[in-house]
Amino acid sequence: MAKTNKTKQNPFKPGAGYTPPLLIGRDNDIDDFVEGLDNGPGAPSRLMRVTGARGIGKTVLLSKFAEIASARGWEVIRESASEGLGARLVAQLQPPSQGKHDFTLSPSINVAGLFGGSIGTYHYESAQQMPLTLTSALRDRISRLEKHDAGLLIEIDEAQAVDKNDMIAIANAAQAMNVENRDYALVFAGLPSMSSKWLNNDATTFMRRAEPHALRDVPLEAVSAAFADTFGETGMILAEDPLKAATEATFGYPFMIQLVGYYIWSQARRNHPDDPVISVEDTQTGIRKALTRLGETVHGPELDGLSSVDRTYLLAMAQDDGPSSTSVIAERLGKGVNYAGNYRARLLDAQVIENKGYGKVDFAIPYLREYLREHAAFYRMSAESND
Ligand SMILES: Nc1ncnc2c1ncn2[C@@H]1O[C@H](COP(=O)(O)OP(=O)(O)OP(=O)(O)O)[C@@H](O)[C@H]1O
Ligand SMILES: [Mg+2]
Repeated sequence: MAKTNKTKQNPFKPGAGYTPPLLIGRDNDIDDFVEGLDNGPGAPSRLMRVTGARGIGKTVLLSKFAEIASARGWEVIRESASEGLGARLVAQLQPPSQGKHDFTLSPSINVAGLFGGSIGTYHYESAQQMPLTLTSALRDRISRLEKHDAGLLIEIDEAQAVDKNDMIAIANAAQAMNVENRDYALVFAGLPSMSSKWLNNDATTFMRRAEPHALRDVPLEAVSAAFADTFGETGMILAEDPLKAATEATFGYPFMIQLVGYYIWSQARRNHPDDPVISVEDTQTGIRKALTRLGETVHGPELDGLSSVDRTYLLAMAQDDGPSSTSVIAERLGKGVNYAGNYRARLLDAQVIENKGYGKVDFAIPYLREYLREHAAFYRMSAESND
């Protein structure tokens, strides 16, 4: 007999940063983080960099880390890269009684901005002093926490966009805390480009020292188990062929897992609210809707963010059904191999395509090939109008 405890709300969370019903395939990363907390200052996982493509689940992993640290009585400061990051960190590091947000510095000025300023109780005369300001703010906060046997977790999301001077200030402050054996952890999350962004300077050296956690798509067996559980918990049954089709449609890409789950669930609930068994038709319609949404939210914006030559390169790849030969692509573009190589390197760095060995590349984002084929005319037209 089917379960009848129906829940009204769709359990899937297809939105950036929304915690999914089940965090699939991240056990190793979580174990490392926990071990880092257990093993005290100096443990490698006390300084981490989490990288991966858009929608792979960096932000929700940060949320999980924050939850774990909070449960141990740690304090957590979460920031996302944008102008004024260093100043915001200093402001957040102050004890609440000293007016967390009482800073006279314009938030649009970065940590080593042109002017001096004052952030709550911390004053500095010039840009050069800002790293020192961040260091002392960090030291004061951690000292207070250490008295209660707690530590401090700082998380910085979208780290590929951190201003270089802010990153240098953070690197200096962290280095000082290491020397003093302070109880804290620092996690950066961002697109893969964050690891190589500032070649040959202190910020990069520091970032490279961080323990790498490159997030990838999750195994399909785990997706299948998670689908069965999540549907089951809301009184629905997703099994056999529909379960297989739903699982395969995700390619293990976390954002697509939420989209597919969401649209199949809502389709079934709408079409037969009293029958818990999900049909092949529900599944097919759900997958179609998920794909449309994936195109609007991932493929479209990703392509919009590229240059028209980058897009032309991708259009040339989309003519193939599988991995493309880079020399054939150069021919299709009517350009030399070196010229095409530059664009290939950029697309690899942006994780839009991946190397398949032996001079071959393939799409790194699921369904991008299909999306390009469907919208080829549009992108070709916009490439011509840019020439
Ligand atoms: N491990 C996971 N298991 C299942 N779903 C996940 C997992 N990780 C992320 N998701 C889902 O994928 C979507 C994207 O997650 P998130 O916003 O964390 O990605 P991101 O890597 O931070 O992307 P961006 O680079 O765009 O910020 C969300 O809907 C989230 O619920
Ligand atoms: Mg994110």
